[in-house]
Amino acid sequence: MSRTSRPVDRNLVLVGFMGSGKSTIGRRCAQALRFRFHDTDALVEHRAGKSVADIFAEDGEACFRALESDAVRDLARERRAVIATGGGVVMDSANVARLRRTGYVILLWADAAEILARCGTRATRPLLASAEDPAERITSLLARREPCYRSAAHAVVETTGLPREEAVERVLAAYHSLVESSRHRHASNPA
Ligand code: S3P
Repeated sequence: MSRTSRPVDRNLVLVGFMGSGKSTIGRRCAQALRFRFHDTDALVEHRAGKSVADIFAEDGEACFRALESDAVRDLARERRAVIATGGGVVMDSANVARLRRTGYVILLWADAAEILARCGTRATRPLLASAEDPAERITSLLARREPCYRSAAHAVVETTGLPREEAVERVLAAYHSLVESSRHRHASNPA
């Protein structure tokens, strides 16, 4: 797939742990940018005809990850879209490469305590619902995944303690700044 030629057409991709606000913040960014909004979990659920929790329970995590990679591949073909991804998308380097080819990847970072507070409805999140100690599961998963989140991202927005509207503003600012620096690179090196 070719690289998007116009920086302004590149997707805004949100990565981050469960409960980091990818869908809520993503929807608001899409409205502000007048981009379409997509969510990898929603596309997986639509195609499978069942919830993420049911896919995990009935078909297993490996099946979910395969469906998720298909969703990433298809959504990465979009232009001018905001794509909210499931928290485990960054664990597959092929997913990351596809998303970075056509978009700017922004990490929504929150610390473990805030994630635990935000994931109140964890029955819908099979990786937490299956844990005896959700706080311990969050801390260990977050530690294991942090390097993947950070290396996937073109920019990081720290959301711990931040009101949602402020997080939206910071994501938009990060996206615009990435577009601008890419424009400058294109202008000084048109070939
Ligand atoms: C997962 C995160 C979930 C969902 C699935 C697995 C993960 O998405 O994709 O339950 O591995 O972190 P959210 O990050 O939107 O909750």
